[in-house]
Order: sequence, then C-alpha cells, then structure tokens
Amino acid sequence: MFKRYRTLRINPILRDMLTETRLHKEDFIYPLFVVNGHGVKNAIDSMPDVFQMSADVLIGECEKLIKKGINKIMLFGIPKIKDSIGSDALNENGLMAETIKFLKRALQDDIFIIADLCFCEYTQHGHCGVLDSKGILNNDATLEFLAQQALILAESQVDMLAPSGMLDGMIYTLKTVLAQNNFYNLPIMSYSTKFASAYYGPFRDVAQSTPIHGDRKSYQQNMANRREAILESLNDENEQADILMVKPALAYLDIIRDIREKSLLPLAAYNVSGEYNLLKLAQKTGAMDYEKLLLETITSMKRAGADIIISYHTQELVDMGLM
Ligand code: PBG
Ligand code: ZN
Repeated sequence: MFKRYRTLRINPILRDMLTETRLHKEDFIYPLFVVNGHGVKNAIDSMPDVFQMSADVLIGECEKLIKKGINKIMLFGIPKIKDSIGSDALNENGLMAETIKFLKRALQDDIFIIADLCFCEYTQHGHCGVLDSKGILNNDATLEFLAQQALILAESQVDMLAPSGMLDGMIYTLKTVLAQNNFYNLPIMSYSTKFASAYYGPFRDVAQSTPIHGDRKSYQQNMANRREAILESLNDENEQADILMVKPALAYLDIIRDIREKSLLPLAAYNVSGEYNLLKLAQKTGAMDYEKLLLETITSMKRAGADIIISYHTQELVDMGLM
C-alpha cells in the first residue's frame, strides 16, 4: 500500500485551492528613505529602484503606493548634518519629525507611517547611539536619547515606532516614557532579534550609516546563536513590545519558525537590502526566472511563520501581479 500524493497535484485549480501560503499586500511594509531638500531623488548603485527622496517627492511616491494598495511605509531619515549624539533626531524640527508631520497632514490616515528609531543614520560615527570614552556604545545614556527621539516622533503623529538599535531595556524604556506622556496606544514593533549581518551592506550605502570604526557586534547578535536569538525576542515581549521581528529574513528562516512557535505576538520578517541586492543581481544575469525566484523567496518567509514582511520588493510584487 502506498499513498498517492500526486492525486492532489494533477489539476491546476485543485493545486491552487490547496495552496497553504499566499502573499497579500496587506501583510507588507515598504521601506522609504527621506533626505533634506526639495525635488531630490537620488538613485543608489547597490539597490536598483530604491531612492533617497526629499519630503516633497516622497508625497508623490506615497500617493502612488496608496493607489496600488500599499499603505504601510517604514521611514528612514538621512539628515545632512550628523554629529556625535545624533542631534537631528532630538530636534522637533528635525528631518524625520518634519517629514512625518508633512506626510500626515497631506495623506492623513490613508498612509500608516512606521518610523525606524535609531541613531546610526544621525551620528557622524555611524553607531546606533552615544559612545563612551573608549568608543563603546553606552547603553543607558543611549536609552535616554531614544526616549527623547520617540517622544518627538510621537508628537509628529507617527503611527508606529520600530526601535532597531538592539539596546538592553529599549522597549521597557520607550513604553514607560510613552505612557507617561499619554502615548500609551502608540504601537512598538521591536527589531527584537537582529543579527550582526553582512546583508545590511547596501542599506548602509543608502542610509550613509556605516560605522567609521569598529562594527555593531557589541549590540547586534551573533549570527550563529539560536537560543540567544529566541531569548532576545521573548525578552522584548516581556518588555511589552507589540510586534516582534527577525532580521535579516532569508538566512534566518529557522529563527522565524522558532520565535513563531514560542510567542503569540505578531511577527515581522525584514527582507533586508542585501537579500534584495542578491535577487536583483540574479535578475540581471537572466539565469533564473526572476518572478518565480522572487515569489519562492518571499513565500519562504511567510511559510516560516512571519505575519508581516518588510521588503523593498513590495512594489514590484504588486506590479508583477504576484499579490
Ligand atoms: C539601523 C538599521 C539597519 C537596517 C535597518 N535599520 C542597518 C544596520 O543595523 O546597520 C538594515 C536594513 C536593510 O539592510 O535593509 N539600525
Ligand atoms: Zn542603528
């Protein structure tokens, strides 16, 4: 006796009906990069079809996205002026605060704006916070700055915060300060399990956030460690994170599955810049069917257990009719 599995694969309509994992545009968040100025739209060599845009250009981009049914963006600010503490992020008239106010005034609740909360785009040394005299990231001093940054973005009507610095006590600190200031319903999507990864390379070109000395290994996680990765996310759940995240996605599908099984919170996967870059390079060679490759790759992240996918491919997935 043997079981005939092909019975259910013979007919295409049947195959379609039995598809367990599908992509929906509602599940996707599209990352965007804002810079100072007017009429700016800079292409980035390492990330085809990704641009740095000034706020006025960004508005048109958001209108286009909304028409396509993409209504969630992850916003990164790349200010012209960077210094040792990341002052632009601490200024209520800083780039991110002004951009969010501008977008919200124009588009209101047609767009859901998630702000990346970190200091690497704002500091001239490129690390994710303030450094001590030995050049090491000072955890608790950075927490105070993060709280200030969070309040400024909350005041500017951001819809969700996404702290990405991998500091200890980050979520607890932010939740406490936000509640004290009556922002108790502002959701936090924590970059709860974030590995020190070579896959961030192209992003750092776009965001001009490569550390000028050292690396991020004293705060981002060791890519070889599974138990630590689970602990980090569960810890952020205890600190009252609303949504957890695994980043990068593709080389960490096992971790997505692990955290999916250990937490009941919504889980996001960040399909990062280097993963995007790899597929774009493959597309250029023509050696593989790009649409199929893209669908297979992104589906793997959902199948692993991600509810939400943050991806530079979001627009082309819609344009290609893949979701
Ligand atoms: C900043 C941040 C990074 C990314 C998102 N937020 C880079 C880093 O930690 O160096 C990476 C995103 C990507 O590669 O697409 N903390
Ligand atoms: Zn950072």
